[in-house]
Formats: sequence, structure tokens, C-alpha cells
Amino acid sequence: MRVFQNVSDIGNLQQALKEAFELKDDRYRYSDLGKNKTCLLIFFNNSLRTRLSTQKAAMNLGMNVIVLDVNQGAWKLETERGVVMDGDKSEHLLEAIPVMGCYCDIIGVRSFATFQNRQDDYEEKILNQFIKYSGKPVFFMESATVHPLQSFADLITIEEYKRNERPKVVLSWAPHPKALPQAVPNSFAQWMNAADVDFVITHPEGYELDPQFVGDARVEYDQMKAFEGADFIYAKNWSCPGVTRPEDYGKVICKDMSWMVDDRHMAVTNDAYFMHCLPVRRNMIVSDSVIESPNSIVIPEAANREISAQVVLKRMLTDL
Ligand code: CP
Repeated sequence: MRVFQNVSDIGNLQQALKEAFELKDDRYRYSDLGKNKTCLLIFFNNSLRTRLSTQKAAMNLGMNVIVLDVNQGAWKLETERGVVMDGDKSEHLLEAIPVMGCYCDIIGVRSFATFQNRQDDYEEKILNQFIKYSGKPVFFMESATVHPLQSFADLITIEEYKRNERPKVVLSWAPHPKALPQAVPNSFAQWMNAADVDFVITHPEGYELDPQFVGDARVEYDQMKAFEGADFIYAKNWSCPGVTRPEDYGKVICKDMSWMVDDRHMAVTNDAYFMHCLPVRRNMIVSDSVIESPNSIVIPEAANREISAQVVLKRMLTDL
């Protein structure tokens, strides 16, 4: 594997899940595979889970790990070609990326959407430069449009907790005070469409995700109706994807608190499990009562981030 961006990069999902559960049973089974190999993790944005789980996954495989927070200690980077660099940016990404590639065998990159230009975000301008110029396998640790390590961990969690062969999984928009990227819901939709689940997306009008990620999923604007009989509720906020109104891209266009997931919502489900990628704002996205309930599986979901990262790194190491 040279790039991990989309669900198609992982190949057969049943095989990927089998590998995940094997690694979960014995996560040190391949502790020699990464000997004398270095994993470089580049963060343009903050992180708790991705940072820790990916480091742990690399260490389980015997890799050395270097973490760089680009905005804390590195030179300020220019990302646009053709700019006269007479401002505060000392280095261009076009030199920085191949230099980073010199010091490692595999690179993970986190670089969120900037919301300045929808086309730039959806063309993955930053991550594609890493793929093109680093000379190394690149895995996405949440880009402008996708968060595949999260979605793979979500799929592992659903497989572990499902109580019937084809569970109903509902992705629900929920309120948030700030404009958040669409990477998590985009990826979640992509992975759920590829999995054997009954998948429904619910959100207020105007929050339609990009059609390439919605695929054949059912979209239901009535949140309570969407929740009926659900086995898993996956709550997440996202800002306006700008599909129906491009001028609203990246904006908060709804603050309706009735979309917060609370006991009233969970009561109409099939005793559903509650999921969220974290970090989560309590009593905005989800009530204290729901996230603290026995049906909340947000912690095992986060724990599976180590496993999803380890499957990806193992495959990249095998193909070096
Ligand atoms: N879910 C997730 O990616 O968490 P972090 O932003 O803390 O890495």
C-alpha cells in the first residue's frame, strides 16, 4: 500500500477486519517488521487520539517514530507555488516535503480544510503534494476531506458490537458552536457504503454531504424518523459542505439544539449504541446522560484507532 486515503485503498473489508482482529489479539506479533524503519507523523493541526494511537501502532510494529508539529518549532511554510516569499513564511512546502521524505520510510499527515476555497480543499492540495514529492508511502491522518483511520476504527467497533447481521447505522448531524470540517462524516459515509450495513444519513437541509461520499445512502431530513430502529447512532457536527449553496461552504448555517442527541432520541432506537469520533462537546452534540450511558462506546471506539493504524502501517511496511 503506497497511499491510505479512501476505503478502496484497504481492499477487501472482510480481510481488513480479519487482520484487525488478529492484531487486536496479539498486537506485538509483528514487532520485528518495522525494525530500523522510521514513521514520520506531520501535524498541521491539533490532535490527541491520532497522535497517540498512531505512535503506539508504529511502536507495536517495532518502528521508530518522529512527530513534527509544523506550527510549533518548524519554519512557517508557504503552500502556494509562484508566491514571492517576502512575508513571514521562511520555507516552501516544495522543499520541505522532499526533505521530510529523506528522514523516514513512511509519512502520516494531518492537514485540515482551511475553508478558504472549496475546490482547493476538495482537491486535497496539501496531501497530494506529500504523495507527489515525498517519495514515501503516505497515509492520511485527517485531511481536508477524509479521515480514513477514524472510519476504519469505527467499522472495527461496529463489527465488534453489532447484534444482528446487517445493523442499521445512522450518521446524524448535531450542533456545534464552531465551523468544523466534513472529513469525518465524508469518510464515515464512504466506509459505511462499502460495508454490509443499512446506512442512513440525517441532517438539516443545507448540510448535504458531497455526492461522492453520500453514494447510495438514504438521506432523511427528519432526525427522529431516521433514528427509529437504529442499532448504532454516529453523531457528528459538520459545517456546510456547500453542495446546494457554494457560497455557504464552511459556514455554520444551523444552530438548532433540538438536533443534540439526548435520551428522547435514543428512546426510539433499537437500544442503539452511541458513537462519536471525539473530541466531543457535551450538551451540544450529545447530552451527559447519553455519553455516560452503558450504550456509549466512544472509548472502545477510540481504542480501536490503535488497531486501524496498525493494520495500515503493517501493510505499508510489507510493501516497502
Ligand atoms: N478522532 C480524532 O481524530 O481525534 P484527534 O483529533 O484527537 O486526533
